[in-house]
Amino acid sequence: MRSLFQKSIVLVLVAFSATSCFDKGAPNYQYFPDMYEPVPYEAYGEYDVFVGEQEAKLPVEGTIPRGWMPYDFENSSEGYAQAKAEGKNPLPYTEENLASGQQLYTIYCAVCHGDQGNGKGILVEREKILGVPSYDDAGRAITEGSVYHVMYYGLNSMGSYASQTSIKERWQIDHYVMKLKGALEGAPERAFESEDLTAKENLIPAVNAEGASSEEEHANESTH
Ligand code: HEC
Repeated sequence: MRSLFQKSIVLVLVAFSATSCFDKGAPNYQYFPDMYEPVPYEAYGEYDVFVGEQEAKLPVEGTIPRGWMPYDFENSSEGYAQAKAEGKNPLPYTEENLASGQQLYTIYCAVCHGDQGNGKGILVEREKILGVPSYDDAGRAITEGSVYHVMYYGLNSMGSYASQTSIKERWQIDHYVMKLKGALEGAPERAFESEDLTAKENLIPAVNAEGASSEEEHANESTH
């Protein structure tokens, strides 16, 4: 009886010592470690061969992501004047673009500018912000180009919408703002255009339609 008791104690000790060193937090024995340990450098890994041991490098200066185009007009009063004179909406004036523009306008702009674009949004009524103009303000005489410009860079107490909206979304909002301006001025409604597929694709020059002349491409670049 006693020996059985001793034996079982020995057995428990052996089992304990065999398993107690196993660390659940560390990887187990690896068969063919190459399958687990990557040969190439890991993104965000630390390696001596790189400056500052940092694998993730900043892109080369001037790099632009695919599907994105730099905006040609500078954030200055000259840039503003130039955009106002030359900026043209590359999207066709379709019912669809206008409807998306209206939705986005309601989300981003109506709180200040009001649903009619008369500068009487809810924040203005509650006196949270001052100096919001009406879109038919003759002194400002906004144009497609200037509307895009202020959405891109912001203007004084109005912030930039470049990070919340895509190029296409901003031009859709732009159509809607120009429609509101027309309505405030009592101008006749602008007729819808048919969907022009080349114009749509030209928004993203990386996937530009084949055969577009370089002149066309250039003309489009300056409107982005
Ligand atoms: C936080 C309130 C606020 C929001 C939101 C806002 N704006 Fe403005 N916006 C202003 C103010 C204030 C001005 C006047 C800025 C100035 O001239 O100093 C202004 C000016 C403008 C102008 C006239 C610029 C010019 O050329 O004189 C346009 C066009 C405009 N906003 C469009 C938009 C659009 C489009 C959106 C939505 C994407 C938007 N705003 C969202 C406050 C706002």
